Amino acid sequence: MTPALPWWSGTVIYQLIVRSYSDGNGDGIGDFKGLAARLPYLRWLGVNTLWLTPIYPSPLRDGGYDITDFTGIHPDLGDLASFHRFLTAAHSQGMRVILDLVLNHTSDLHPWFQRARWAPKGSSERDVYVWSDDPKRYAEAPVLFRHFEASNWEWDPVAEQYYLHRFLRHQPDLNYENPWVQDTMLEVVDFWLDRGVDGFRLDAVPFLFESEGSRCEGLPETHTFLKRLRERVDRHGRDVLLLGEAIQPVQEAAPYLADDELHGAFNFVLTAHLFAAIASGRIQQLGECLMEAEQAVCGPRWALPLRNHDELWLGDGHLISDEVIQTIRVGLPQGQGHWLNWGINRRLAPLLNGDPRSNRLLHGLLYSLPGMPCLYYGDELGMGDWPGLRDRDPNRTPMAWTPARNGGFSTAPDPLLVLPPITAPGYDYRVVNVEVQKQLPGSLLNWHRRMLTCRRLLPALRHGSFRLLHSPHPGVLVYLRCTEAMTVLVAANVTAAGASLSLDLSEWAGERTREVMWGCEFPPAAAEWFVNLPPYGFNWWLIGEVEPAATPA
Ligand code: NOJ
Ligand code: CA
Repeated sequence: MTPALPWWSGTVIYQLIVRSYSDGNGDGIGDFKGLAARLPYLRWLGVNTLWLTPIYPSPLRDGGYDITDFTGIHPDLGDLASFHRFLTAAHSQGMRVILDLVLNHTSDLHPWFQRARWAPKGSSERDVYVWSDDPKRYAEAPVLFRHFEASNWEWDPVAEQYYLHRFLRHQPDLNYENPWVQDTMLEVVDFWLDRGVDGFRLDAVPFLFESEGSRCEGLPETHTFLKRLRERVDRHGRDVLLLGEAIQPVQEAAPYLADDELHGAFNFVLTAHLFAAIASGRIQQLGECLMEAEQAVCGPRWALPLRNHDELWLGDGHLISDEVIQTIRVGLPQGQGHWLNWGINRRLAPLLNGDPRSNRLLHGLLYSLPGMPCLYYGDELGMGDWPGLRDRDPNRTPMAWTPARNGGFSTAPDPLLVLPPITAPGYDYRVVNVEVQKQLPGSLLNWHRRMLTCRRLLPALRHGSFRLLHSPHPGVLVYLRCTEAMTVLVAANVTAAGASLSLDLSEWAGERTREVMWGCEFPPAAAEWFVNLPPYGFNWWLIGEVEPAATPA
């Protein structure tokens, strides 16, 4: 008998920022009360896992990734009781909830850091963070937020030493050489699992340990700690998802997915190649990247993001080649400007110049490739951004619910809003919002819902095997997703021109072929099976007689 699949196998992850999602008490800031009220929408849409960016007390100098208390709730969002009410409601509506957990650093306002800087040099309190008398230590570790910081070290006049911060200077790195740090962070994990959460998105996992002469990423000691973390999670005796954020090449990200380590990891290389494919109209490197990821670890364990709350991270040539970075910069309508740190600071829709065809194509790939598709809140509407805002705030503006004031996000007066709702031309919330798009059968929102429904009915798309087929067209990606009972064929045209091609389906000669979304019949499979795809067009076909609805969910 095949073992039961964990709940997260093939799950669709919806990422949201609680403070930007829905305001339940009218103070201008999204909260758990507001989010709980939106659960029926999320269920209607068809996503099954909610990933909440950090919800903890924080001075919010890095969107909450600067934490002052790992076991509390930011008072703007509610309290542990309102979190619990939300979690229970999400579970009762069939959704799982994973929390962002920042292992690598805290806020400099965290009591641990304040204690550390005042404690004597070499004391156990000081030792909770990474200190040095020499800011040239670990010189090969790149500065990640290069538009904000010039060094990974900051002088602390109280401690009279430098402290390490791989991110912003107010985010000192915890010292994982210190057993107290390891034990305490494992207690944090216990705390949230005891409260019923279903998993964690582990922020910045590669950076837990440092070593001279290296980039200080993914060191063996880091993997050893993550295995300890996994063992601790397993003790809870239920399926939990540990999803690592390692913005690294496939070969460096794959070790996090060892059987005794994390369950999932984001495939950011794939994200970059998806954009590069659109930018260049060519699929060769995308295909190679898919094969590499598939060979490194079995496909369903990769999480597949298009966009998120950060800039579209392309890196310094370590993640993907300079040539691919250049392809994206030059080929994407918004690729040239809006550069932040090592990536492009735009939301998906503006990045694609508002073209719904490429938007659908990219999501069509995400929903049919092996892994856990990640949908960023608002991208189901083609929501826009506010490029003038500071740091990554352009991508974090309030969700657009209705054409009413503030897009239905909040009843508060405008100056109190967490961030301004989008009124940019082409993306105005009076047009681009949930209420309006629900009523338009051809809207992007209804399209997403339909695609997610189809995906639910097709187990092959959730956990079937993956096979790339030979494509006679340089701009059309062709692949199969198969379970024993079901074969789904996918063809996707990444070019701005129509494509017609002939596929060799002799393996299934004479079998019925049906397009999935609208159920229309195609000619039976044959050695020369012709397909026409419009610009940025794609299709999913079922091969054979199996009925989607009759297959096990
Ligand atoms: C990655 C997060 O996605 C980003 O938003 C944050 O600034 C850094 N980690 C630091 O926590
Ligand atoms: Ca509120």
